[in-house]
Amino acid sequence: MSVHEIRHPLVRHKLGLMRSAKLSTRSFRQLASEVACLLTYEGTKDLELETYEVEGWCGTVQAERIKGKKITVVPILRAGIGMLDGVLELVPSAKISVVGLYRDEKTLEAVPYFEKLAHDIDERMALIIDPMLATGGTLVATIDMLKKAGCSTIRVLVLVAAPEGIAKVQQAHPDVEIFTASIDERLNDQGYIIPGLGDAGDKIFGTR
Ligand code: URA
Repeated sequence: MSVHEIRHPLVRHKLGLMRSAKLSTRSFRQLASEVACLLTYEGTKDLELETYEVEGWCGTVQAERIKGKKITVVPILRAGIGMLDGVLELVPSAKISVVGLYRDEKTLEAVPYFEKLAHDIDERMALIIDPMLATGGTLVATIDMLKKAGCSTIRVLVLVAAPEGIAKVQQAHPDVEIFTASIDERLNDQGYIIPGLGDAGDKIFGTR
């Protein structure tokens, strides 16, 4: 299965708090980071391990570590930045590959305007972060970009996903796994997720 709705009580509780329209910028930001951290835990559950020997207090011990080149985190500007600290709590040495896309008014396509990827992204697992998976256009274009750069293991962490966006990503990139705190009901006419969180970028940056 390529979509995982995380039912952990801490995730449900924190997301519930984020739904309140009265929440302060500070609290929204803090919770976005905490939920991102929990999604990272779930999204990295099956990373491959290797054993190695370490000199412990009572002699040589067999220990385990994550095998090979590790992770690059890919925040999508602007709102993805709001999840970055939470992801880095668990993978502090990850490389960060930042991407920015805008929506072309004529074609309605997502067009990249900023792309600074880890130089060895083809050897890393990419964890794309963006709070809201709405229409899926931006996410599909980001995955296209990463695959073009040679990245073959891609996972997505989103706070809330709309069924329409999930379907679009699954159709274009069935190999990509999505981890979300909630699959919500639908998109409205303006492309907002219902019930969703409102404009996550504005809430994280305090610009609403
Ligand atoms: N982006 C947001 O910030 N919120 C939505 O509901 C959809 C897209």
